[in-house]
Amino acid sequence: MNISFADISLAKSGALAVLVTEGASLRGAAADLDDKTGGTLKRAMKAAGFSGKAGSVLEIAGPRGVAASRILLVGLGKSAGLAAAGMEKAGGELIGRLEKTKETSLSIVMDGISGTKLTAGEAAARVAFGVKLRSYRFDKYKTKKKDDDAKGSLKSLTMMTRAASAARKDYATLAKVADGMFLTRDLVNEPPNILFPGEFARRASALSKLGLKVEVLGEAQMMKLGMGSLLGVGYGSQHESKLVVMRWMGGKAGEKLVAFVGKGVCFDTGGISLKPPAGMEDMKGDMGGAACVTGLMRTLAARKAKVNAVGVIGLVENMPDGKAQRPGDIVTSMSGQTIEVINTDAEGRLVLADALWYTQNRFKPKFMVDLATLTGAIMVALGKEYAGLFSNDDKLSKQLSEAGETEGERVWRLPMGAAYDKMIESKFADMKNVGGRDGGSITAAQFLQRFVNKVPWAHLDIAGTAMASPQTATNRSWGSGWGVRLLDRLVADHYEK
Ligand code: BES
Ligand code: MN
Ligand code: ZN
Repeated sequence: MNISFADISLAKSGALAVLVTEGASLRGAAADLDDKTGGTLKRAMKAAGFSGKAGSVLEIAGPRGVAASRILLVGLGKSAGLAAAGMEKAGGELIGRLEKTKETSLSIVMDGISGTKLTAGEAAARVAFGVKLRSYRFDKYKTKKKDDDAKGSLKSLTMMTRAASAARKDYATLAKVADGMFLTRDLVNEPPNILFPGEFARRASALSKLGLKVEVLGEAQMMKLGMGSLLGVGYGSQHESKLVVMRWMGGKAGEKLVAFVGKGVCFDTGGISLKPPAGMEDMKGDMGGAACVTGLMRTLAARKAKVNAVGVIGLVENMPDGKAQRPGDIVTSMSGQTIEVINTDAEGRLVLADALWYTQNRFKPKFMVDLATLTGAIMVALGKEYAGLFSNDDKLSKQLSEAGETEGERVWRLPMGAAYDKMIESKFADMKNVGGRDGGSITAAQFLQRFVNKVPWAHLDIAGTAMASPQTATNRSWGSGWGVRLLDRLVADHYEK
């Protein structure tokens, strides 16, 4: 969809939407439109009991006195406290309404809205962002498109505001965030026969056109580095494991990098500790952490962020096979620490162990944030509303929590400590890869921490938020793209100069 910004003109044809806050009377262009239609808007509002509640839409088909085919009044809710999220939601709801119509163009009038936390430009940009996020579809494998699963016929959106140039500038940045999220969504949605480690690495490599430096390490190179923990996971797969390093150097020369590390299990059968069949297809999304890191790096590069950043993703496929690793195997990680593999289905931590160690030692980063669809237990604890946050650093934790509130991608910090760490002691090796049922997400985090030295580090368990997402006004995709907005905000607010 083509999204543009322009001055207010009520003469346009196509669908016309007017955004109104709850309880406020029509003002500015909205009042003008009411006049032009001989008071139709006010009459319709009264008749339908439309008061501008958040998420409500009132539609007037074929109004008299204007060229528009229909007018939609969209409620924003109360103006006090109204911020970015409310605007995005309104944009999403509105587009949802039009999906089943044959309209090809939409103009949204934003005028006379006061008392919110946003400037007029920011508000218009956020509505457009909501529209853009909602319009994402992953239907490339549907060869027979039905009318009602089509994207709708909308081709163009004009945001009409007196602050068009400010809105255009804000939206330019947001569109780059959306593009990063869409890459993440695409990667998570792709089927596992198409998106195996080599193909994922190719898609990451393609980002070099945006100025990212991308390196791909294969099994021979990882073997030389001693990554026995990561490599063990992929032994049962026909696909070669890969480690991808993406760098964006938009900051000062010599300035330390910020680092993001992602779990990229392109498919997780569980390995020899095979998962039950019900719902196993969802494990194509077990590379959600890696997908988020890749989408984030795309956004940072596209918007030329003034930061030096590295994204490292460990890409493997966890399969049962004659060559697969077994429960009882002991592997040696790049750190030199040995791991007894009790359960081959606790494979994400084995991948991250080497990816974290490698990142920390090669780049000596300012901080490391890893993302992983690591444990089913995190959904038992937090559902799909929050991702689990585990960290050795209060400042980084606070920054992540605040960024999450701002962007609507929330994180909840859970405890760590010596008593939990004890649960992964092994009879035969330096540690085992599972700690038992109790505190399953915490013992997984303790495992990761054994591969992190003094550097500020945070681990985000995104098993609940990355995939099988609840459908919202701004997301209709199975893969949510979760984390891109959060981490882009973290960087923008604290690590760019
Ligand atoms: N990829 C799974 C975790 C997962 C489960 C993500 C459901 C998304 C949805 C992970 O590799 C896994 O299998 N974890 C095990 C750990 C257990 C064996 C200690 C789990 O959560 O059951
Ligand atoms: Mn697993
Ligand atoms: Zn997994």
